[in-house]
Amino acid sequence: MQSGIDIIEVSRIGELVKNKRFLHRVFSKEEIAYCSGKKNSAQHFAVRFAAKEAIWKAVGNRKLSHRDISVKNDEHGKPAAVLPSNLEKTCRKLCISLSHTKSFAVAVAVLNE
Ligand SMILES: CC(C)(COP(=O)(O)OP(=O)(O)OC[C@H]1O[C@@H](n2cnc3c(N)ncnc32)[C@H](O)[C@@H]1OP(=O)(O)O)[C@@H](O)C(=O)NCCC(=O)NCCS
Repeated sequence: MQSGIDIIEVSRIGELVKNKRFLHRVFSKEEIAYCSGKKNSAQHFAVRFAAKEAIWKAVGNRKLSHRDISVKNDEHGKPAAVLPSNLEKTCRKLCISLSHTKSFAVAVAVLNE
């Protein structure tokens, strides 16, 4: 079993996502739509950024970029990791959990191998 964790200041990501190049380099279209539709969108962007870092740590594949990793919520709001199709088996073994406040966003990823 491998794991990863990341914590980030919401204000830092809130500033960065104002830059369209950063936004599209880091987040998928689906993530942008999800976060933009929320009242406190910076918190949702920040927690996804933290999730990408936590997942990267758990998976341990240095070639993965932020854009290769994304987060998808099911109909109950529960988040899951999405990885490129060649890592489908790894993706199925990944569990993530996210939490955010006005100031901080935190994500944990566990790879059950
Ligand atoms: C879903 C819930 C847990 C979110 O908790 P919260 O304190 O409001 O918010 P947090 O910042 O900690 O977590 C938000 C994240 O939780 C995740 N989440 C939402 N629904 C979820 C679910 N059903 N399962 C797991 N994670 C969930 C999401 O990733 C969300 O962030 P996102 O929208 O950016 O993806 C909460 O709204 C809820 O339903 N609580 C009920 C808990 C309860 O019944 N407790 C009784 C036993 S202790």
